[in-house]
Amino acid sequence: MKIKEAEFIKSAPSLEQCPTSNFPEFAFAGRSNVGKSSLINYLTHHKKLARTSSEPGRTRMLNYYLINKSMYFVDLPGYGYAKVSRATRNAWQREMKRYLSDREQLRAIIQVVDIRHDAGPLDLEMAEKIREIGVPWLLVVTKADKISKSSQQQQVAKIAKTLGMDNKNRIFLVSSEKQFGEESLLNELAKLR
Ligand code: GTP
Ligand code: MG
Repeated sequence: MKIKEAEFIKSAPSLEQCPTSNFPEFAFAGRSNVGKSSLINYLTHHKKLARTSSEPGRTRMLNYYLINKSMYFVDLPGYGYAKVSRATRNAWQREMKRYLSDREQLRAIIQVVDIRHDAGPLDLEMAEKIREIGVPWLLVVTKADKISKSSQQQQVAKIAKTLGMDNKNRIFLVSSEKQFGEESLLNELAKLR
């Protein structure tokens, strides 16, 4: 699949305010600052479509991007971000979980983790949530440019093992910065669409 068109549609503060159209949706979930928004920019080849930041907590609410006029990428707020008030954080997390559990258009969840660290408790919690929902689960190990080529596969295997992800076809090594890894990911999304 090639992405020819990508357009920001809206930031939905709650499940009720998500678009009413029936396009399949692919949601990007992961720790704050892991690179979810950068991944969307890379996949769409738009440098500034999704707002990114070196500070965690950039993405708030459920951000909808219409892809090739036929599906949505949904950029979710990162988990594990502590700089906003507990009430605000809880509200985002609650809406994100409602979205993941209740959104009928949700076709797959792309869990994004940082290659430099093993998966943490919050990643594990998300993986369990995804398994509980039963929607297709894709694992993107990003920031691959941050470690040497020789350790990449070993680190990917370690993260996948910690999370209990054993479907090799659904694990993707990516660098949004150096722009590699998009092809197999986009092909898998096209299959799931
Ligand atoms: P929140 O919206 O806060 O949850 O963060 P996010 O997951 O959307 O992260 P974002 O895309 O804003 O990226 C966070 C930081 O990581 C930015 O400084 C990016 O430039 C950097 N980054 C993202 N992807 C990569 C990558 O593949 N390689 C490198 N080296 N840096 C990256
Ligand atoms: Mg973001």
